[in-house]
Amino acid sequence: LKGMPFYGKKAMVTAGPTYEAIDPVRFIGNHSSGKMGFAIADALARLGAEVTLIAGPTAQRSKQNVTRIDVVSASDMFNSCTALFPQTDITVMCAAVADYRPTTVEQQKIKKQEGEFTLVLEKTVDILASLGRNKSAEQILVGFALETNDEENYAKGKLEKKNLDLVVLNSLNDKGAGFKSDTNKITIFNRALEKTIFEVKSKTDVAQDICEAILKIIK
Ligand code: C5P
Repeated sequence: LKGMPFYGKKAMVTAGPTYEAIDPVRFIGNHSSGKMGFAIADALARLGAEVTLIAGPTAQRSKQNVTRIDVVSASDMFNSCTALFPQTDITVMCAAVADYRPTTVEQQKIKKQEGEFTLVLEKTVDILASLGRNKSAEQILVGFALETNDEENYAKGKLEKKNLDLVVLNSLNDKGAGFKSDTNKITIFNRALEKTIFEVKSKTDVAQDICEAILKIIK
């Protein structure tokens, strides 16, 4: 792999949803398929990086040249990411991490009751923001933003608040973008808030574009 653009670099990628348990049989989740994150892990590995993929529950299969760690909850994902981060040169946080989880997890299956049922939620840790606070000058941190309105401003805000090097915006308003789809349409902002708009492409090609944007800031 010598001579490859990411030769000697260690990369970490998160992908997929997280599941937050309500009781032994129920959870709060989301529609993330994991496709984008798995494509990024694969692209980084093909360009020579030593890749660890931290995956939430998904049906995706990872490639042999990627080390995979399977996790379930935001808290599991936080622990794996935090442990690995100090040895990581490039981190791409693609997972759709739950923002809230049930405050208490019932040990027995919750029984049906008359009338309304209220579930109390608490915030999960923002993994990306936490890594951003602990980032060294040499480490590259890439985040995603999925927005439905005022997307560019939210994306730029995230870049600054979470101390990112790049933020990849994908909009649910664009055709051919989003959760289960095999294609995506992205806009990338760098630290100078310069924006690059890409066409609708396969997630494999989008992953390649993201790798090239990372290479530009390494050089
Ligand atoms: O703030 P928001 O959740 O929209 O930011 C999205 C970005 O933050 C994504 O890169 C996602 O993987 C990451 N994130 C995280 N931990 C959370 C929430 C989001 O790492 N608890």
